[in-house]
This record gives sequence, C-alpha cells and structure tokens, in this order.
Amino acid sequence: MCGIVGYIGKREALPILMDGLKRLEYRGYDSAGISVFSGGKVVTERAVGKVAELENKINGKKISGCIGIAHTRWATHGKPTEKNAHPHCDCQKNIFLVHNGIIENYKELKEDLEKAGHKFSSETDTEIVAHLIEEYEKQVPLKEAVWRTLAHISGTYGLAIVDQKNPGKIIIARNGSPLVLGVMEDGYIIASDIAPIVCYTDRVIYLDDGEMAELTDESHKITNFKRKKVEKEISKIDWSVEEAEKKGYPHFMLKEITEQPEAVENSIRGRLVAPEGIAKLGGLRDVAEKTRHLKRIVVVSCGTSYYAGLVGKYMLEEYAGIRTDVEHASEFRYRKPLLDENTAVVAISQSGETADTLAAIREAKNKGALTLGIVNVVGSTIARETDAGVYNHAGPEIGVASTKAFTSQLSILALLTLFLGRQREMSLVTGKRIAEELAEIPHLMRRILKKANDIKMIAEKYSEYSNFLYLGRKYNYPIAMEGALKIKEISYVHAEGYPFGEMKHGPIALIDKNFPTMAIATSDSVYEKTLSGIQEVKARSGKVIAIATKGDREIQKMVDDVIYIPKTLEMLTPLLSVIPLQLFAYYCAVSKGLDVDKPRNLAKSVTVE
Ligand code: M6R
Repeated sequence: MCGIVGYIGKREALPILMDGLKRLEYRGYDSAGISVFSGGKVVTERAVGKVAELENKINGKKISGCIGIAHTRWATHGKPTEKNAHPHCDCQKNIFLVHNGIIENYKELKEDLEKAGHKFSSETDTEIVAHLIEEYEKQVPLKEAVWRTLAHISGTYGLAIVDQKNPGKIIIARNGSPLVLGVMEDGYIIASDIAPIVCYTDRVIYLDDGEMAELTDESHKITNFKRKKVEKEISKIDWSVEEAEKKGYPHFMLKEITEQPEAVENSIRGRLVAPEGIAKLGGLRDVAEKTRHLKRIVVVSCGTSYYAGLVGKYMLEEYAGIRTDVEHASEFRYRKPLLDENTAVVAISQSGETADTLAAIREAKNKGALTLGIVNVVGSTIARETDAGVYNHAGPEIGVASTKAFTSQLSILALLTLFLGRQREMSLVTGKRIAEELAEIPHLMRRILKKANDIKMIAEKYSEYSNFLYLGRKYNYPIAMEGALKIKEISYVHAEGYPFGEMKHGPIALIDKNFPTMAIATSDSVYEKTLSGIQEVKARSGKVIAIATKGDREIQKMVDDVIYIPKTLEMLTPLLSVIPLQLFAYYCAVSKGLDVDKPRNLAKSVTVE
C-alpha cells in the first residue's frame, strides 16, 4: 500500500532509490516518482504506471546526488495520474515529500491553505502536508515546521521529506504506516519495509508511531512528536538478499508456492517435540499461565490470513476444546465486541502491518484481552504491539497473492492447537499423532509440487471459463474460499467459495455446463457427503475438477478431472489441498498473460483502513 524509499549518505542515491522501488513495487504500482538533490536543487521525476515507466523516463537524464526520496503509489485519493504521483511539493517547489497512508482531515486543511493563498497541483490528500510545512517554515526552522504540521494532520502516515532550502538532511515521520530505517556503514536507507534494505545492511531501527527522525549522512536523531529525544535499539534482520529475489523463477508467486515445504519446515523447526506430543512456543512462554486458563479465542485477520483463521477455528475447537471465533478485522473494531480477560485475541498477518488487523488488536487491548500475533514479518507493528506471539519464519513473501505465508500460518495454528490442547485435555497419543503428521507435511507437499505440470495442463484446459464455484466441507471449506480468492486476485475470474452443504441453498442455481466446480473431496470424515454434493453438480451438467486423496479411484468415474494429494490427518489436509488451488490459479493467470505478481488494483500490504 504505497512504498517509500529514501537514501542519504555517500553513494549515488538514484540507483539505490530505483532498486528500492522495484523491491517495494508489490506495495503499489499505479505510479512512481523520485526526488533527488542534484546539482544544488531537487530534481523530481514522476510517471504513471509501474516503476519501469519511471525508469524509461529517467533513462539518459543526468541526475546525480547522494540524497533522495522515492515512492510507488497505490492510489487512494485521486486517480493514478502523473500529477497525483509522489513526490508532492509546496508552492515554491522547495519541500518535496513522499507519503504512505491517508491524511483524514485534508479537506479542511486544504480549504484553509487555499484561503491563505496556496495553490494545489494534485487531487491528493498528501499535498497538503508540503503546503502546511511551507506555511510554518515562514516562521520557524524546518524541523519545528514539520512538528507543527504533524500536530495538525490526522490519519495515518509514513513520511519522508526533503527541503531544497535545507540541503543535507531528510526528515521522516511515522504514524500508523510502517517506516524502517536501515543503518549503513556510510549513510542511511529508509523504506516502508525491509525488502529494499536487506541489500545494503542488516541493521535496522523500527520507527514507532508518533516518532520522527532527522537524518544526515552521518547521524540520526529520533524524537517523538512532543519533541523529546527517543533512544532506539538497532535490530538485526535475519532475511537474506537471496530470499528476497526470484532465483530464476518467472514469478515470485511460483517461487513462493514452491518454497512451501521449506517454509513449513522453518515454521515448525525446534517447536515440535514429537515424542512428548507437545509444541514448544518460545514466544508464548511468558503468557503460558494465562493461556492455560483461556476460555475463548477470537482470531482477527483479513483476506488469506482470515481463511487461515477459519481453519484454525476447526483445529482449536476440535482438538484443544477452546471456543474460537474468527472475525474480519475490518468489522471487529466497528461493532462492540464482547471480550474479557479470559479471551485471547489472535491477530494473523503475513505483513504485520495490515491496518484493519492492527486496529482490531488495539481495540482488543483496550478491552483488556490478551493479544497474540501470528506474524511473518519480524519487527512489524503487529508483532511489536501484541502481548506475545509466534513468528512464521516463512521468509519474505513478495508475490501479492499470499501462498507460503498461508501454509505457514496453518502450521503455526496446528502448533498452537497442540500447545493449548496439551495444556488442557488432549491426550499424549493425540498430541504425538498431530506432531508426527505435522512433521511429515513438508515431505507430502513436495510430492504435490512434483505434479505441478499436470495441474498446469488442467488449468490451461479451464482457463477460458469466466466463472467457478469452489466447494469444500469442514476443514476444506476455508480452503474453497482461499482457492476462490486466489483465482479472483490473479486471474480476474469470478469465483464463489462456498461450504459444500450450502450449495443447494442457492449457488446451485448458477450451475450449468459453463460454470465449473472445483470440489475439494478428500477422503475424510465428510467424504461421503461431499460425493453427494458432486453428484448434485453433475446432475446439472456442471463440470467438476476434484481435489481427492491419492488412491481414490472411485472419484475418477464421477468427475471431469482429478488432482490427487497425499493422505494426512484430516486437520492438516488444508496444508496440502490448497497447493493445487494455488497452482491452478497461477497457471490460469499465466495462460491469460496476466502480471501474476502485480495483479491490478491490489497491493501486498494494505496499510489503509
Ligand atoms: O499481511 P496480511 O496477512 O495481514 O494481509 C492480509 C490480506 O491483505 C492478504 O492476505 C490478501 O488477502 C492477499 N492478497 C491474499 O492473497
């Protein structure tokens, strides 16, 4: 949701900024722009579309200097046009800034500024920040002008600001939108997340809400918005550059689908004690006494992470015996959720920055609930703001469509089920069984991935259909919804994800020979019922692709195409059944020639509400 990069130091800024924009492009790709101090003035270039368009525009121009800021946009206020692209500036074209977030009170401020004679050149909320700083700078120095501006704006922002009248510095500020400061040997790189930073340094400072930093090529001074100095710890990033690159794959999405066995291995490594049938979750050690007495869990999350939560509900209720409710984070905060000290609110988030999920966690904290995080990005806001939590360790996920983060979330939820179940009435035998089966999952995933070519052929066969029904029961009902989300996101194909049993209550009316069904029909406790559902689809001339358990020959006679997955414990089936659906969506999109890693209108990390 918009990506910001900035550099100040001894090197040429432009290559660092452009490389950073490419690495952040998954956050937004409607337009992009840079401002660099070059030849004593700030040179700004902006272009509509992807970063490559900006690169073409800049190509051959002499832009040379060691300080600059850059932005890749996911439009909120104002269409994706060049004049709405960042950086934005004041009337005198001295102050240039990039922004991620939304300034909520921009309309009132804009009216006041216009009355004071300011002329605006964009439709964005962001531009008012540059004009406000300009206004204050008439009376006070830049830093004080920024402080005063921040006191007047409300909403969310990660900001990076340069001022032609104050060369040699960048000011950054954070409120509700992520901002990370990379500490290099010879300068600083700032970014919305660590993707552009890992290439230059593994030492970072995570800015918190209400903090501002003044950077020169040799120093950083961090204060809060009340002008008080803040001492911040320098943390070490454990993601490597290689992990954040495509490694020869045509798309990040395919790379990340293929990485799932390792991602799950990393999620469970050192946490499963199979002989004792327990999970050791270091991140929950300090709250273990509290979790022992929990009566209820509420999962808050969005999109794919929400579907992971739904699978978690089935796991936690069946095996740990804890009532579990799963809520769309975007709804949770607007109703009056009933929470108490016996409830834990668990945020599931790959990025750890999703604004809706963050707001839900803050609401839960206010209401006195224990807050826990299942988060992939180390040091992200949700990870830092929850009372305790478990990191996924899935490695960076760059493709906008979430894949390996999802299966690693499921493996953490299985660990959590084991952890909480064994604190309660789960037997040693059951605990051991879950632990042993979970340890086998990466190996079973590899077997499915070896069949990717078969799935590709099926996807190509169906890629011209414009509607799909995805159906599953029990543990595979959330997987049906996740599969439908995947194909919607990257293939722009309409797909309905439904619980199989609900089909006859409405969606069955859609079925005809042009409306295929993806049926998850694994050999589990609801297999027979699922088969009846498939018969109902076939009776209406609907085509069926089934995801079935290896060895099930019967189903072949009933459906048009079958994709087999290996047998595992029913509660762990989603970790396997989702993989063919990810590959199916991927190959459908590829056969349509679509930009898989940057689907239209989407952004990887949704940091606005
Ligand atoms: O970073 P988060 O897990 O909090 O993100 C939540 C959703 O925005 C995300 O899962 C989204 O639905 C993905 N594009 C799904 O592929």
